[in-house]
Amino acid sequence: MKSQQLRQLLDSLSLDEKIGQLVQLSGEFYQAQNIATGPQKSLGITQNLVDLSGSVLNVTGAEQVKRVQEEHLKKSKHPIPLLFMADIIYGYHTVYPIPLGIGATWDPKLVEEAYHNTADEASASGVDVTFAPMLDLVRDPRWGRVLESTGEDAMLNSHFARAMVNGLQKDLPNGRGLAACIKHFAGYGAAEGGREYNSADISLSNLKQNYLPAYRAAVDAGAKMVMASLSTLNGVPGTGDQWLIDDMLRKQWGFDGVVISDYASIQELVDHGFARDREDAARLAITAGVDIDMKSPCYANGLKQLLNQGRISEEKINQAVWRVLSLKNDLGLFENPFRGASIERESHSILSSDKRAVARKMSQEAIVLLKNEDEVLPLAKQSNKKIAVIGPYSDEADLIGLWAVHADSNDTVTLADGIKEKLNDSYYSISKGTDILRDKKFFDQFGTAEESVKRSISSNEEEIKQRQKSLKNAAKADIIIFACGEHPLQSSEAGSRVLLRLPQNQVDLFNELVELQKPIITIVFSGRPLVLTDLVSKSSALLQAWFPGTEGGHALADILFGDYNPSGRLSMSMPYIEGQLPMHYDHLSTGRSEETSQHNSRFVSRYVDSPSKPLFPFGFGLSYGELVYSKLVMERSQLKLGETVESYVTINNIGNYNRYEVVQIYFHDDVASVAQPVKRLVDFKRVFIKAGETKQVKFSIPINQLGFYDRKGNYQLEPGTFTFFAGSDSMAMLSEQVELIQ
Ligand code: NOJ
Repeated sequence: MKSQQLRQLLDSLSLDEKIGQLVQLSGEFYQAQNIATGPQKSLGITQNLVDLSGSVLNVTGAEQVKRVQEEHLKKSKHPIPLLFMADIIYGYHTVYPIPLGIGATWDPKLVEEAYHNTADEASASGVDVTFAPMLDLVRDPRWGRVLESTGEDAMLNSHFARAMVNGLQKDLPNGRGLAACIKHFAGYGAAEGGREYNSADISLSNLKQNYLPAYRAAVDAGAKMVMASLSTLNGVPGTGDQWLIDDMLRKQWGFDGVVISDYASIQELVDHGFARDREDAARLAITAGVDIDMKSPCYANGLKQLLNQGRISEEKINQAVWRVLSLKNDLGLFENPFRGASIERESHSILSSDKRAVARKMSQEAIVLLKNEDEVLPLAKQSNKKIAVIGPYSDEADLIGLWAVHADSNDTVTLADGIKEKLNDSYYSISKGTDILRDKKFFDQFGTAEESVKRSISSNEEEIKQRQKSLKNAAKADIIIFACGEHPLQSSEAGSRVLLRLPQNQVDLFNELVELQKPIITIVFSGRPLVLTDLVSKSSALLQAWFPGTEGGHALADILFGDYNPSGRLSMSMPYIEGQLPMHYDHLSTGRSEETSQHNSRFVSRYVDSPSKPLFPFGFGLSYGELVYSKLVMERSQLKLGETVESYVTINNIGNYNRYEVVQIYFHDDVASVAQPVKRLVDFKRVFIKAGETKQVKFSIPINQLGFYDRKGNYQLEPGTFTFFAGSDSMAMLSEQVELIQ
């Protein structure tokens, strides 16, 4: 539709029809299958409003979408198609590793391909918009939603943000893409204490330096939508933050797309004590620039009154409706309200072998090898050694994490499936040993149906039998693979925890296995970095598998048996103990650094009862074989503003394995008017290097990227020296200095 026609359509709408466009309801209002992704409460919405509403939440499937769309269009005076929006966070039916695993790939190109595939699958099922990517920077793994983030670094997150948006939206013009809705704008990732839905307090310089860049990168890449955060940032709820939405996002960044609230978050402005009542909440949200009200009755029941009372202008409503109609128009819905929805396309696209192949590759790249004592890995496929695979994840299909709400874990390749394809069955045994979690109270608090609890918790007799069987298997074996981890319900949304340990029943089983004094290869499945200190020290090797997705079992077996040399590198620090949290590698220099202070050891920045360093730092990960960083050369020692410095890092693969290496470059601004991080990632390259090969890896670093935000939020680049570091993680030690001169 031409812009002029769209304008005419807007002008012809009644006030009720306009308000309807700003209301989003979920499946149950359309007699469609309902996926609960938030609190369920009666909304006081009339049938008339349902008929007028502009978008639907989490209804998917070509057949269902077509039916709902058809019925909707029949009922509306002006046939304005519904927008179908859904939470497709890291895969639709073909599920990739959780975003924290995606972060560990350091491979934005592959991520773009994966999100492109996701868009193909989900658009075939009638989805128009996905509530992804989540771009919240995270520093505290107590927060369950770290699962949805690519990690703790602004620059790395920005690379992934661009890749995800590009992948999702690449095929928008031909109906096979998804519009990206980036979220949660902004600062939700800094929820205090890691407690879900808690407030965030972030200084302006920290916000601009660390929390906003990934959003900015996604907006610049053309993301069509933004979801406002339901949390407060410096006291103001994201859903009512005019400074953030209207001033920054729209005016300063030039974003002209749709802003949507989070689930019920307009109504929650009342609970925040920010709005007097629901009407007031509607006024604050629409004034801040929120166009669509997701699952709250505030716009539906409040905007008309507000207008009649002169508390908002019709222009405000028109602007919001215009943006919603423009999105529908950009997606081509007026010409074809069903867009990509097609049962036939679904049958080719969903879980196709090429999509599974990309998922397998992504899982391989996401898994991080954290320890490999005496090169216990990789295992030989043909040897006389017997392997006992033990633990609740040894044959568990739920490897997709809690936010893969549209996928079916029956489509997943389990660890046991993967191993069976590599080994002759006389050489391995598989036994569960114990349940993932045996704490009934934990399930009860979610109101989990009695039946499903019964299924996931074995009786005491069964538990004893399971344990005995696995101890017998272990006794007969030469090597033990221990597959353990969090229950999927323990992470993701509303999955905050204070103790980031394995469930005690798993710890007990592990300790019994340790007593057998055989090499143990531990595989950890989790939605966050757990505290693995004890597990690491008692294991010969340890693989962090995250929730690795549909092809997880294949990828793990590929790594265990050397068909893929692990290349994953942590994008979030792994704590030594929970009391260190929050933590991140790019912390500011303190006046009393543990390493460099002249004070005696008591009066330095440290804990008296724990190391202050993480168990494994940001950027860390092992591969098979050995590689050394031998040289860092900065081509120039002095530069002026606007110039670029070329640098060269020499790496030597002195081991026997071909591998990928993620070469990382960090810098430190030596003297600045605001204390600066000890290190900041400035660039990285993922390079393939053969056994015995030496490679020089080139980087071009624009000096203008080395600035910082001062306390007033202004970008500063001050003359003086900068130290660059090169290495395989954030402890990178090779260093060189460069000076910025005026
Ligand atoms: C609440 C979550 O915070 C958000 O990320 C999600 O997209 C919505 N629910 C919709 O399900």
